[in-house]
Amino acid sequence: MRQFSRSAAGLPQLGIGLIGTGFMGRAHAMAFRNVSAAFALPVQLRLAALADADAARATRCASDWGFDHAHSDWQQLISDPEVDIIAITTPNHLHYPMAMAAVEAGKTVYCEKPLAVSLAQADDMRNAAKKAGVVTRVGYNYQHNPIIGLARQMIESGELGQIVSFQGEFSEDFMADPASPWSWRCEEAHAGGALADLGSHLLALARHLMGDVEAVCADANTVHPQRPATVGSREKRFIAVDDQTHALLRFASGARGTFSSSWLKHGYKNHLAFEISGTRGTIAFDQERLNELRVCRADQGSFQRVLAGPALPGYAAFCPAPGHQLGYNELKTLEVHALIQAVFNQGKDGPDFEEAWQVERLAAAIRMAAREQRWVRITEL
Ligand SMILES: NC(=O)c1ccc[n+]([C@@H]2O[C@H](COP(=O)([O-])OP(=O)(O)OC[C@H]3O[C@@H](n4cnc5c(N)ncnc54)[C@H](O)[C@@H]3O)[C@@H](O)[C@H]2O)c1
Repeated sequence: MRQFSRSAAGLPQLGIGLIGTGFMGRAHAMAFRNVSAAFALPVQLRLAALADADAARATRCASDWGFDHAHSDWQQLISDPEVDIIAITTPNHLHYPMAMAAVEAGKTVYCEKPLAVSLAQADDMRNAAKKAGVVTRVGYNYQHNPIIGLARQMIESGELGQIVSFQGEFSEDFMADPASPWSWRCEEAHAGGALADLGSHLLALARHLMGDVEAVCADANTVHPQRPATVGSREKRFIAVDDQTHALLRFASGARGTFSSSWLKHGYKNHLAFEISGTRGTIAFDQERLNELRVCRADQGSFQRVLAGPALPGYAAFCPAPGHQLGYNELKTLEVHALIQAVFNQGKDGPDFEEAWQVERLAAAIRMAAREQRWVRITEL
């Protein structure tokens, strides 16, 4: 394990280096700030440095969010001796060079999803991390939800009987309007498209709950092949990535499943949802109601609503009262807590680069199945 400096109280000190200050940069910063208020940590965290390509923004965010230093060059942050954990929250095509440099520097890497822009990159990343022996984690935050922990426990304990079906969907509507402009999320070279952007979360969750997928068949299509270059612009850009992807899944357990991801389904803002049914019951979840699991046991005949509360691991760190509800940012804090535990060998298995490669392999199999219009066994990749 990497050696850390010690605080006045004798606790090891861990320096956090954050790259990117957008949507996810802010979420990571809040999680690193909140985690010591929520949990008794075996370590003192220090917000050591922040980097963004926009130097003025880096300086402003470092000051607003409580980081000691700002860098406009991410490579300076990686070589900063005060930084032990590198959090990568930049667009997808930058994950590979940043994570590989961080691994080479022997640092812990906490990278946003999707891990990489190709399966070959993801393969390099997992191999490099394994060789260097560094801790890695990937931002599949939804699986840290205490109510997802309950779902997993119900499946593993056999309470639902033999699991026969998984129906999963991740839909949002932020690209539903054809006038929604081009962004880096529309570029294949940047791992754009609904499957990579949203579907990677659903595939990670499907694996977390159901285990390995053996084979897939799929269909993907682009509904709006042109979008304005910027908001309101008459200049058009051609788009080749998927607006929606649908797939059938065959799990190694024998269960069957469906998968869909769409970023143009009107009405949905964060509809990461599944229904899992077994021979003795069904459970249903929707991230838009993230504190709730609907459960139907065979002898009940209809669904009951189970609300998250302090009896579920992780919930009480934020709130002693049931039904008062956790939010998206608390899931990120739970993810950071799991990361810190992993650094100190106290964590359960979590989504590291090896697991993220499995997720990328599954996504690649879905793309291949859609392209070749056939069933693809995962072992073909
Ligand atoms: N886990 C989740 O729920 C979730 C949600 C949204 C986004 N994401 C992922 O987070 C990542 C970032 O997405 P976002 O929505 O925060 O994007 P964003 O566009 O809001 O932010 C990206 C940030 O990266 C910075 N940046 C770009 N190039 C840089 C460089 N060369 N050096 C340093 N900084 C650079 C930008 O200035 C910006 O601050 C993506 O991989 C995305 O898939 C995850």
